[in-house]
Amino acid sequence: MDTAKLVLNIEGKEQSLDLPVITGSEKEKALDIGSLRAKTGLVALDPAFGNTASTLSAITFLDGEQGILRYRGIPIEELGAHSNFVEVAYLLINGQLPTKSQLESYRYNLTRHSMIHEDMKRFFDGYPSTAHPMAILSSMVCSLSAYYPDALDAMNTEMFDITATRILSKVRTISAYAYKKSIGQPFVYPQNHLSYCANILNMMFSVPAEPYHIDEEWVKILNLLLILHADHEQNCSTSTVRTVGSAHTNLFASISAGVCALWGPLHGGANQEVLEMLEKIRVSGDSVQKYVELAKDKNSTFRLMGFGHRVYKNFDPRATLIKGACDKLLSKKGVKDPLLDIARRLEEAALKDSYFVERKLYPNVDFYSGIIYRAMGIPTDMFTVLFALGRLPGWIAQWKEMNADKSTRIVRPRQIYTGETERHYVPMDKRG
Ligand code: ACO
Repeated sequence: MDTAKLVLNIEGKEQSLDLPVITGSEKEKALDIGSLRAKTGLVALDPAFGNTASTLSAITFLDGEQGILRYRGIPIEELGAHSNFVEVAYLLINGQLPTKSQLESYRYNLTRHSMIHEDMKRFFDGYPSTAHPMAILSSMVCSLSAYYPDALDAMNTEMFDITATRILSKVRTISAYAYKKSIGQPFVYPQNHLSYCANILNMMFSVPAEPYHIDEEWVKILNLLLILHADHEQNCSTSTVRTVGSAHTNLFASISAGVCALWGPLHGGANQEVLEMLEKIRVSGDSVQKYVELAKDKNSTFRLMGFGHRVYKNFDPRATLIKGACDKLLSKKGVKDPLLDIARRLEEAALKDSYFVERKLYPNVDFYSGIIYRAMGIPTDMFTVLFALGRLPGWIAQWKEMNADKSTRIVRPRQIYTGETERHYVPMDKRG
C-alpha cells in the first residue's frame, strides 16, 4: 500500500505521520486519515464533506471536471441510448448487466410484487388532499416494513433480493396512488401485462370511465429520465441512506430516510422549484435578466434553481442528455411551452454572466426534467416523487454494498464543541 508522509507543526511541536494513500480504479487518490486522532489527538473538520470521501464504492464513477458519469463502468450516454430502467436497476444492484433469462425473471418479480396490501390503501384516507406526495411517500415506504417483519433484520442477506424487489415495485404504485389521492380519483391497480414505466403512466392517468392510450414515446422518455436519476454516488440522500443503514436499520426505513433527504429544495426538490421559478418569471412578465441579477445579489436569498452542483464544475452530463431529449420530443409532439422559452433564455443569460462563469454554475439535472414532466401532464409536486422512484436502484445498491462490507461501522461523525464551558444550574429565583 502507498503511504504519504504528513508533517504537522502545531504550537511548535513537530510530528510526522505515515498515512495510507488509497487509489481508486480511475486513479483518484485519497489520504486515509482514520488513524489521525489516535496518533495526534486531532480530528479533521470538513463541514458538508466537501473534501471527504466517506466510503470506497464500486457502483458509480463521477468526474465533475470532465462531466463523466458511469454506472458500474458503463457511461450513462450508452445506458440512456440502449437500456431501460429495469435493466439499469439490475446493473446497479447486482453489478453486471443481466443475461436474457436474468432480465426476464427480474421483470417477472417486479411485475408480481406491484400491489400493496389492501389495508395500506386506507392510509391514504388519513391525508388531506393537499398533502405533498413526498410526505405520503416517505411514510408509506417506512410503513411497508410493518407488512414484512422478516425484512426487519437488515443483516439477513437472504431477505435482500425480495425486499429490494418489493420496494422497486411497490413505490411505483404508492407514488401513483398519492397522485390519485391528490386529485380525488379512484386508485388504479397495476397491470401485469404492462412494462415498469407504462404501468406508472397507466396508474397515474387512466380512469375507470374510459380507455387510456399509453403513449410509447412518453414511456421511452420516462425510462430515460429514471435511468439518468438512478444513482449519483455519495449525494445527500444516498449518504443519508448509508448513514441510517449503518445502524443496521432495515432497507424500508433507510430508503424512507433517503426520500426525506431528497425532498429538500437544494437536492431533488429542486425540480419542483425550477418549474415554480419559471412560472413566477412568466407571470411577472419581467425579463430573465432581472432574475439573473437577483440570483447574484448577496442581499437576496433567491438562487437560480436548477443551477450549480457540488461536484460538476463544467457541465452535468445528465442535463445535456435531458435537454437534448426535451428539445427533440417537444418539437416532435408540437408542444409549445412558454416556460421552455423562459428556461432557454435564462440559461443563455446565466451562461454569459461572469458571476455564473467564475463560480462554474451550469444547469443541473433538474433544470429541464420538469419541462418534460409538465409536457407529460405530470403535476409539479409529483416531480420529486419521480426523482425518488428513479433514485431507488442507487439507494438500494449503496445500502447493499455498505452492508456487505465487513469493515462498515456505524456512521458517527465527531464535532468541535463551541458552546459554553462548564457552568452551574441557577435556581429560578436567582435568574436575572
Ligand atoms: N444561483 C445563484 N448562486 C449560486 C447558485 C445558484 N443556483 N448555486 C451556487 N451559487 C453561488 C453561491 O452563492 C456561492 O457564491 P459565493 O462563492 O459568492 O458565496 C457559490 O455559487 C458556491 O455555491 P455553494 O452554495 O457554496 O455550492 P454548494 O456546492 O454548497 O451547493 C447547490 C450546490 C446546493 C446545488 C447549489 O448550487 C444550489 O443551491 N443550487 C440551486 C438548487 C439546485 O438546483 N439543486 C439541485 C442540485 S442537483 C441535485 O441534487 C439533484
